[in-house]
Amino acid sequence: MNSGFTHITVLLDEAVEALAVRADGCYLDGTFGRGGHSRLILQHLGPGGRLLGFDKDPQAIATGQALAAEDGRFVIVQRSFAELGSELESRGLAGKVSGVLLDLGVSSPQLDDPERGFSFMNDGPLDMRMDPSRGISAADFIATASAEEIARVFKEYGEERFAKRMANAVVQRRETQRFERTGDLAEVLKVANPAWEKGKNPATRAFQGLRIHVNNELGDLEAGLEAALEALEIGGRLVVISFHSLEDRIVKLFMRKLAKGEADKMPRDLPIRFQAFDPKIKILGKAQFASETETKANPRSRSAVMRVAEKLR
Ligand SMILES: C[S@@+](CC[C@H](N)C(=O)[O-])C[C@H]1O[C@@H](n2cnc3c(N)ncnc32)[C@H](O)[C@@H]1O
Repeated sequence: MNSGFTHITVLLDEAVEALAVRADGCYLDGTFGRGGHSRLILQHLGPGGRLLGFDKDPQAIATGQALAAEDGRFVIVQRSFAELGSELESRGLAGKVSGVLLDLGVSSPQLDDPERGFSFMNDGPLDMRMDPSRGISAADFIATASAEEIARVFKEYGEERFAKRMANAVVQRRETQRFERTGDLAEVLKVANPAWEKGKNPATRAFQGLRIHVNNELGDLEAGLEAALEALEIGGRLVVISFHSLEDRIVKLFMRKLAKGEADKMPRDLPIRFQAFDPKIKILGKAQFASETETKANPRSRSAVMRVAEKLR
């Protein structure tokens, strides 16, 4: 399956460098996409190295299967990275992984192909699922959820100020006609949004909220971070690239909490060495962003934030 839509990998060299790939290590790419990061990881692996790719998306899986057919060190799995623990358990790899990469969110082909139903710019069926064979589509959610629930999704996941007003407009319209197309929903949201932001489609935030909800993106991220940490061997690296503040906040707080160990529970003025707090991870460097050259070549990289940690125990 080749849709003809392409994905430009973000922070390619930076992310693979941060993994510090060992030639004989076992690595996990939780968001295979079109395999940009995976291919570079494979270049650093020797004949004894292994790479396990995960993705929910059938087109990503098709690309992964083609790569697996070419390269015996690579395996692709159609599952959420939130479930990587049980997958590794069944392969006898729990606690033996040298590095986990999560390059979050959606790929460009998912956004650009109107048939996937993510786009408010190009009309298509209102779906938005990364894996269209699981869960409920955006159309079904919009058809069945209460106005309060729709408003919560627009507000919490889309950070939309006029969430209530926009949700009410959606619920009022669905009484006469179900929403089936992204263009139709975008039009109703546009009319209901009283304050258009410069250079931004007025449906952008609500669409982001819907997408995050339909794919349980934040729940998967929380579960995935925990599972990734369990999966790593001591000294193993966790590299996460986020594309919006909700994701990055989860990653940042997760890493900070584990890097502090028990420090938060101790009185601030206690003269104890840092190691005595027994942190689980060490944060490596500061948050990294795409270079000017990269953001010029690929505007999508503008919002990328990469954080890296190493497992200590
Ligand atoms: C930004 S793209 C990754 C691109 C990839 N690094 C590359 O270079 O081609 C994100 C991918 O992760 C997948 N994805 C997002 N959340 C996922 C999850 N919880 N489990 C598995 N795959 C997920 C999406 O389907 C999409 O293909």
